[in-house]
Amino acid sequence: MTDNQEDADDTAPSRRATLPLRPPCERLSGPKSSVCSRSYFVVVMVFFHVYIINVIALLFYVHYSSGQEEAGRSRDAPGGGHQRPDARRPPSKPEFVRDVSLARIEGIRVGHVQKVSLVPGKVHEMRTLSLKPLLFEIPGFLSDDECRVVMQLAQLKGLMESQLMVQEGQEELAKELNLSPEEIFNLLDINQDGQLQLHEILTHSRVRDGIWLTPENLREIYAGLKADKDNNGLLNLEEFRLLSNDAFQRFLLQRGVKRSQLVRNSRHTWLYQGKGAHQVLQDIKERVIRLTRLPPALVDLSEPLQVVRYEEGGHYHAHHDSGPVYPETACTHTRLAANTSTPFETSCRYITVLFYLNSVDGGGETAFPVADNRTYDEVSLIQNDVDLLDTRRNCDKSNLRVKPMKGTAVFWYNYLSDGRGWVGEQDEYALHGGCVVTHGTKWVANKWINIDPDYQRQARYQQLVSQLPEDDEDDEGLSLNTDIQSPRIHEDL
Ligand code: OGA
Ligand code: CA
Ligand code: FE2
Repeated sequence: MTDNQEDADDTAPSRRATLPLRPPCERLSGPKSSVCSRSYFVVVMVFFHVYIINVIALLFYVHYSSGQEEAGRSRDAPGGGHQRPDARRPPSKPEFVRDVSLARIEGIRVGHVQKVSLVPGKVHEMRTLSLKPLLFEIPGFLSDDECRVVMQLAQLKGLMESQLMVQEGQEELAKELNLSPEEIFNLLDINQDGQLQLHEILTHSRVRDGIWLTPENLREIYAGLKADKDNNGLLNLEEFRLLSNDAFQRFLLQRGVKRSQLVRNSRHTWLYQGKGAHQVLQDIKERVIRLTRLPPALVDLSEPLQVVRYEEGGHYHAHHDSGPVYPETACTHTRLAANTSTPFETSCRYITVLFYLNSVDGGGETAFPVADNRTYDEVSLIQNDVDLLDTRRNCDKSNLRVKPMKGTAVFWYNYLSDGRGWVGEQDEYALHGGCVVTHGTKWVANKWINIDPDYQRQARYQQLVSQLPEDDEDDEGLSLNTDIQSPRIHEDL
C-alpha cells in the first residue's frame, strides 16, 4: 500500500517533464507585439497576485469558521442538532482538566480504629479489616429501623432470581464464531501444556454456563461421557475432540442442575436513591458520601442500591464485583458517552459498600479468600480438590470472614489508586463471596460507586448527564439516551 503510493509520487515529476513547456507567446501565431507587450504582462501579474491573496483569505476563513463550529458543538452537546461521531477528535490534548482528586481512606494497619462523623450527634468507629484489599467495618452504620425499611421496600418492589438456570445465547455465539475443537482447546488450555486440567475446565464452565462444578462433578461427567479414556483426570486434544461442543451442557441439562450448583443462589432487587425516593434511601446515600469522602456527583450517578436476600442454603461463590480494565475495556455506566464499541465491558465499581440488614442465625459470612495474602496466584486458588472460590465448602479456609451483624457496613476498594488521585488497576485481593447460609435468612444491600478509570470518559459522561433535562418526557431524543442506559447499568457481572 505504502509502496504503491511512493511509486505514484515518484512517477509524477517525470510525467510533468514530458509536457511541452514553452512560453505561451511562442505558441501563438499572429501579431506578437500587441499581446506580449509589457503592460499585458503587468496586468496578468496583478490578476495572479489578487488570485493568490483570495485563495489565502479563503483558507483563513475556512479554518477560522470550522474552529468556531467545533467550540460551539462542545458547548451545547449533546442536544445540538446533528452530531458527527468524531466531532471531538483528535483527542491528543485532554479536553477536561482534572480538578478532582479521589480521597482514599487510609487503613494504617489491620485492627486500626478511626472515629468518623457520619450523622449529626453521633460518632461511628471504623475498623480496618485488611490492607489488601483496603477493607473497613463500621458497626451501627444503619439503625434497626433503617434496615427494616430497606427490607420492606425491597419486598414491596419484589425480588427476582439473581441467576437464571441456563444462560441463553451461548450456543448461538459458539456457532457464529465457528471455532474448531483445536481452537476451543487452545482457548481453554490456559497454561498451554497441551492438557486440560480440572481447574481449566471448571473456570470455563463457571464463566460460560454459570454452573459451579466441583472437581468430583467433573470426574462424574468425564465418566458419564467416557471422555477421559486414560483416566488420568486430564483431557488431551484427542479426548477433547471426542466431545461435541455442547456435550457438557447437554449432560448437565439431562442430569438436572440444582440451584445450589449455580455460581449464585439468591434473589435481589434495585432501589433508586435519587430525588423522590424514600427518605431512608436518600439518607443512606448521603451517609455513603460522607463515609467515602468522594465527590457527591460520583455517588449520585452510581448504580441504585441492590438489596439481596439469601434463603437457607443460599450462597454466592467468590468473585470480583468489577473486572480488570484494559485499554479497550469500556465501563457500563460511561459507555453512552464513549462513542466507541468494544468487546470488553465491566461495571467499574470502584468501591463496594455492603450493608448487613439482619444478623444471620447460621453461616452467611462474607469471605475474602486471599485478603492480605503475601502474593496472589490465580492458579493456586483451585488446587487438586481444594477450591478456595467455593463458598459452600471452603469458607473456613478463607483468610478473612466477616460475620453479618444487623446495621454493620463493610466497604472496600475494588481498584487500587493510580498514584495521581484517580482509579488505578483492579485489586485482585478484593476477591470475596457469601458463605452458605446454614440457618435462617440473610439480607444484605450493596452500594456500588461507579468511576471510570479513564478520567476523560468519566468527565464526558458527567457533562452529558448534567445536560439531560430532569424530566425525561421533555425531549424525546434525550429520553432515548436514558432508556438505553438504565437497564444496562443494573446488569451484574
Ligand atoms: C455481592 C456479594 C457478599 C455477601 O452481593 O456481590 O459479594 O456476603 N455479597 O452476601
Ligand atoms: Ca493445561
Ligand atoms: Fe460481591
